[in-house]
Amino acid sequence: MIIRRALESDISEIVDIENCSFQVPWPDFLFKAHLSNPGFLVYEEGQIRGYAIVSSSEDRQKAHLQSIAVHSDSRRQGIARKLLEWCIDLAKVHGFNEMMLEVREKNMDARSFYSDNGFTVEGKIDGYYLDDNAIVMGKKI
Ligand SMILES: CC(C)(COP(=O)(O)OP(=O)(O)OC[C@H]1O[C@@H](n2cnc3c(N)ncnc32)[C@H](O)[C@@H]1OP(=O)(O)O)[C@@H](O)C(=O)NCCC(=O)NCCS
Repeated sequence: MIIRRALESDISEIVDIENCSFQVPWPDFLFKAHLSNPGFLVYEEGQIRGYAIVSSSEDRQKAHLQSIAVHSDSRRQGIARKLLEWCIDLAKVHGFNEMMLEVREKNMDARSFYSDNGFTVEGKIDGYYLDDNAIVMGKKI
């Protein structure tokens, strides 16, 4: 098992994970645009099982977890937790002491995952997604 920075050659496997994870998946060019971000990480075990992207918030005050997903065949094995730990360590190295994220209000699996990992609800943005509201969650790191 290895967690490492994403490479261009990983993109097709990342898109497969994306397509089985979200109703409105990111297209490959959005992932390609993140390849220069050191916070674009993959979890590899024979093949790519999950990915996470962390960057800074718009005001640069907090680390922003942009996305995290694990292939549907590999869930509940602690993969997302490990990816999140790496994102948090990376954010600390870059001087951040807080992490935030937006999650779909209806995405109870992800909300449970974040709560289980110490995130608390900080707000709600009505209509953030075309088909859902966003719950804003945060955590001191
Ligand atoms: C959310 C997601 C990333 C979790 O990945 P995962 O690798 O299965 O998560 P982990 O195995 O690390 O889970 C750690 C803990 O989080 C909680 N958790 C994870 N998935 C959960 C679920 N579906 N329901 C309830 N709790 C859950 C549990 O407490 C779990 O510990 P346990 O398995 O010992 O009970 C995964 O379900 C996923 O890819 N979903 C689709 C994409 C998505 O919604 N991403 C978030 C966008 S904001």
